[in-house]
Amino acid sequence: MGKQTWKPGNMIYPLPAVMVSCAREGEKPNIITVAWTGTICTNPPMVYISVKPERYSYDMIRETGEFVINLTTQKLAKATDYCGVRSGRDVDKFQELHLTPEAAEQVKVPMIGECPVNIECRVKEIKKLGSHHMFIADVLAVHVDEAYMNENGKFELNKTGLLAYSHGEYLGLGEHLGTFGYSVKKKKRKRR
Ligand SMILES: Cc1cc2nc3c(=O)[nH]c(=O)nc-3n(C[C@H](O)[C@H](O)[C@H](O)COP(=O)(O)O)c2cc1C
Repeated sequence: MGKQTWKPGNMIYPLPAVMVSCAREGEKPNIITVAWTGTICTNPPMVYISVKPERYSYDMIRETGEFVINLTTQKLAKATDYCGVRSGRDVDKFQELHLTPEAAEQVKVPMIGECPVNIECRVKEIKKLGSHHMFIADVLAVHVDEAYMNENGKFELNKTGLLAYSHGEYLGLGEHLGTFGYSVKKKKRKRR
């Protein structure tokens, strides 16, 4: 059997489905689920999120220039989906989902306490690409849950139960296959 050729579309998966928190003075803070997100530079640390202008969150992020990317876990799969199908125009997502707003350090946007990693971001540039506008942002601070620090002081991110999003489905991460560079690492010779 061969391969089908499809018209151009989005087919890069798996992706994270992150919960992005945002807030504007005088309004309740909001959460929007975003899969169009990623790292775009290591140094300076920079990320992006692409958001449709019609989203309630869009103006909040554009006007304040601030947002927090909260990494999601399998435990938070339902909450992640909910924040992606209900609008902050109609519901208070923090309240509905019993999520804990925690004060961030650099931005006025609350972080989500239940998420193991919170990334504070400040918008640097907005690219109006088409259906989605890309918020290119500097990372101002990263917060990680101390519960996942091991005895050597290493943060065990992959023990937090991270959530993946692939082709319309939520999945947990699979089995451990290797570590960075393992394909070329020399095997230790056994001493005879
Ligand atoms: C898994 C998933 C991923 C999503 N990714 C995006 C995205 O990358 N950009 C976007 O604008 N909307 C995305 N959405 C849709 C928004 O999260 C959704 O429209 C949400 O209700 C908007 O909330 P708001 O109106 O409170 O801002 C996604 C939804 C889901 C369920």
